[in-house]
Amino acid sequence: MPQPAVDPSVVPSSSPVLLKITSIIDRLEPAQLFVRPQPLEVELGSGDGSFLVNYAKLHPERNFFGIERLLGRLRKVDRKGRRMQLQNLRGLRIESAYFIEYLLPAGSVTALHIYFPDPWPKRKHRKNRLINETFTRLAHQVLQPGGVVYLRTDDADYFSQMTEVFAANATFVPVETPIELSEVVTDFEKTFHARGIFTRRAAYAKKP
Ligand SMILES: C[S@@+](CC[C@H](N)C(=O)[O-])C[C@H]1O[C@@H](n2cnc3c(N)ncnc32)[C@H](O)[C@@H]1O
Repeated sequence: MPQPAVDPSVVPSSSPVLLKITSIIDRLEPAQLFVRPQPLEVELGSGDGSFLVNYAKLHPERNFFGIERLLGRLRKVDRKGRRMQLQNLRGLRIESAYFIEYLLPAGSVTALHIYFPDPWPKRKHRKNRLINETFTRLAHQVLQPGGVVYLRTDDADYFSQMTEVFAANATFVPVETPIELSEVVTDFEKTFHARGIFTRRAAYAKKP
């Protein structure tokens, strides 16, 4: 598989999919991390990559970045990406909020996918949820004008929180999730549906 040009904060990796970075201070240069400079979409908490690899396969004209904190799950993304010979897929083991706040350049992303983020159901743990008021500001920072945040969850309370924080941020407008996107289901989504658990989705576009 051809390797992309070199971002100075990235070291050579034995995998064409997984990134190794030398600095958690310098922002990445996404165009240099992929074989082709193309619109960039990021999945935060990509799990085993069920959604990411299938969607990346459907859209070779876009680049995809999977962020996941668990190494075992990221290795599955790596295996699937290699098996499918995806040149538009990269993965990095790092904390999601840190990644978008400190490593992604402003205005570098056309879509953020956040599917079934940990719901932290206990009241005292809700401060750990990824999608909150701060997240809407970080999403605004990294998205291009017109870029979209796509959300899915099975947790009714978390869904209310998601819709409230985005409704309160006047720089976003609610939009529909395209059918071709909602048809690509995640691993957790498959499990929820098999157990008859209702799931919810929402999407918000950054105003031009
Ligand atoms: C409930 S799973 C959903 C996985 C996948 N999106 C799906 O729908 O199948 C949540 C995933 O997010 C990852 N995760 C949770 N908090 C994270 C964080 N702060 N940074 C990066 N990954 C995180 C977990 O390790 C887990 O793989």
